[in-house]
Amino acid sequence: MHPLRRKVSSYTAAMKPRKNNNLSVFVVVFSVFLFGFFMYNEDVKSIAEFPFSSTPKFDTTVNDGVVEINSRTTTTIVVESKTEKTEEEQTIELPVSKTEKTEEEEQLIELPVPAVEETEEEQLIELPSEECNLYDGNWVYDDSTHPLYKEDECEFLTAQVTCMRNGRKDSRYQNWRWQPKDCNLPKFRAKLLLEKLRNKRLMFVGDSLNRNQWESMVCLAQSIIPPGRKSLNKTGSLSIFRIEDYNATVEFYWAPFLVESNSDDPNMHSILNRIIMPGSIKKHGKNWKNVDYLVFNTYIWWMNTFTMKVLRGSFEKGATEYDEVDRPVAYARVLRTWAKWVDKNINPNRTTVFFSSMSPLHIKSLDWNNPDGIKCAKETSPILNTSMPLNVGTDWRLFYAATDVIRSMKLPVHFLNITSLSEYRKDAHTSVYTIRQGKMLTDEQKADPNTFADCIHWCLPGLPDTWNEFLYTRIISRS
Ligand SMILES: *[C@@H]1O[C@H](CO)[C@@H](O)[C@H](O)[C@H]1NC(C)=O
Ligand SMILES: *[C@@H]1O[C@H](CO)[C@@H](O)[C@H](O)[C@H]1NC(C)=O
Ligand SMILES: *[C@@H]1O[C@H](CO)[C@@H](O)[C@H](O)[C@H]1NC(C)=O
Ligand SMILES: *[C@@H]1O[C@H](CO)[C@@H](O)[C@H](O)[C@H]1NC(C)=O
Ligand SMILES: *[C@@H]1O[C@H](CO)[C@@H](O)[C@H](O)[C@H]1NC(C)=O
Repeated sequence: MHPLRRKVSSYTAAMKPRKNNNLSVFVVVFSVFLFGFFMYNEDVKSIAEFPFSSTPKFDTTVNDGVVEINSRTTTTIVVESKTEKTEEEQTIELPVSKTEKTEEEEQLIELPVPAVEETEEEQLIELPSEECNLYDGNWVYDDSTHPLYKEDECEFLTAQVTCMRNGRKDSRYQNWRWQPKDCNLPKFRAKLLLEKLRNKRLMFVGDSLNRNQWESMVCLAQSIIPPGRKSLNKTGSLSIFRIEDYNATVEFYWAPFLVESNSDDPNMHSILNRIIMPGSIKKHGKNWKNVDYLVFNTYIWWMNTFTMKVLRGSFEKGATEYDEVDRPVAYARVLRTWAKWVDKNINPNRTTVFFSSMSPLHIKSLDWNNPDGIKCAKETSPILNTSMPLNVGTDWRLFYAATDVIRSMKLPVHFLNITSLSEYRKDAHTSVYTIRQGKMLTDEQKADPNTFADCIHWCLPGLPDTWNEFLYTRIISRS
C-alpha cells in the first residue's frame, strides 16, 4: 500500500488532510466501526459506543465459575508462621513445579544476612524454574495473600487508581492471585526486592499503563520503609521514587511511543492528532542510561486510529508533512529503532531489560457475553472460564511485532507476557472510580459509565501488582 501523504499545520491544531482517495474514507469508517472507541487523552473518553442495553437478557453463569482458594492440585506447603513468628525464624518454601522437578531445576536463594537487627536470618524462597511459563495459568481467589498492600497504606498512589477511596463498593478485584499452571510465583517480600535493588535504579519507560505498573511497584517497595526515608520527585518526564536506606530508586519516564512524538509532554499530551518520529529515540534514550532494570511498554496510544502518522523529517526542524502508515507496520518500525538503541547502548552486564506486552481494554461487555454490562463498569469478577475463546479487541499484530523484534535482538530481553492473563480481568479497571482531566468524576458522571468509565487503566491494589510479581520473580532470580 502506498503511504498517504498528509500535511501538518502545527503539532496540535486540527488537521485537515485531504481525503484524496477512497482508502482513507474507508479507513475512517472502518476504524469507527471496528474499534468503537476513540481516545481523546490518557483519561480516555470513549465515543462511538454501540448501544447494548436493548439486547436480550443473557445467562451470566459464564462468570460464576468455581472459585476456590488454593485450587492447585499440587501439595502446596506454604510454611508460614501462623503465630507471628519473628521474621528471623521464618522459612518460606514454595513448591517449584508440579511436573517432575529435578534437583537441578530447584533453585534456592539464600538471603545475605543483614548487618543489623536480623542476625541468623535465614529465609529460603523457592524460585520457579527458568523453563516454567509463568504466564500460562489461571486466576485464583485468595484473600489470605492478596492484596499485597492496602490502598490506604500507600500514600504514593494517585487519585487515578485509588478506586475504593473514589467510591468503588466491591473489593474482590484486589484478591485474585495469578497461579501459573506448572509452577508457583514466589511469595512477595519487599525486603528481598529491596536487597536486590540496593544501589540500583529500576525504571519504567512508556505510557500511562506503565505508569500504572510503576505506582504499583512503588507501593510494593515502600511498605517496609518508615516515613521520611522515602520520597517522590516528579520533574518533567521523569518521576523518581527514592528509598534512602537502600540508595535505590523506582522511576517512571513518560514516552508513550518510546520514540519521539508530539505527545511527549508529560502533562500536556492530550493530542488527538498523534504524530511520531519512528527513527528518533536518542532524545528519550539518554535518560535511560545507567539504569539497572528497564521496563518498556507502548500500546494504548496506537489504538485510536488504524494508521499512524509518521513525520517526514523532524519536529525540531519544523517538518510538517507526514505519511500515514498501517499501525502494525509503524509499530514494528518503532520497535526496531528501540531494539537498535538497546543493543547499542545497554550493557547486559549491568542492565536487565524487560518489555511488557499490551495491557488490554474491556470496552464492549458483549465480548464476554454480558449484554447487561456497560463497558467494564458492572464487572466484579474475572472471566474464569479460560477454555472460552476470548476476543476483547486486542490488536495481536502488535504482540507478534514485539516478539519478532525481541527475538532478533542481540541483548536478551525479558518479555512480560501479560496480555492474555490480563484479558480475563474485566473486573479490575478503574471504571468510573477515577479522575478525568485531573478531576474526580462527579456523581453525575459516575452515573453515566457509558460515557465516563475508564476501561483502560487499573485499580491499585490490583492487576498491575501481578505484573510486578513477574518482574519481582525475574529480579530476585538473577544476580
Ligand atoms: C504468552 O502467554 C500465553 C498464555 O498466557 C501463551 O499462550 C503464549 O504462548 C505466550 N506467548 C509468548 C510469546 O510467550
Ligand atoms: C547509589 O546508587 C547510585 C545509582 O544506582 C550508584 O551510582 C551509587 O554508586 C550508589 N552509591 C553508593 C554509595 O553506593
Ligand atoms: C526534584 O528533582 C529536581 C531535578 O533533579 C530537582 O531540581 C529538585 O530540587 C528536586 N526536588 C526536591 C523536592 O527534591
Ligand atoms: C561483560 O562481562 C563479560 C565477562 O566478564 C566480558 O567478557 C564482556 O566484555 C562484558 N561486556 C561488556 C559489554 O562490558
Ligand atoms: C467454558 O467455555 C467452553 C467453551 O465456550 C464451554 O464449552 C464450557 O461449557 C464453559 N464452561 C463453563 C463452566 O461455563
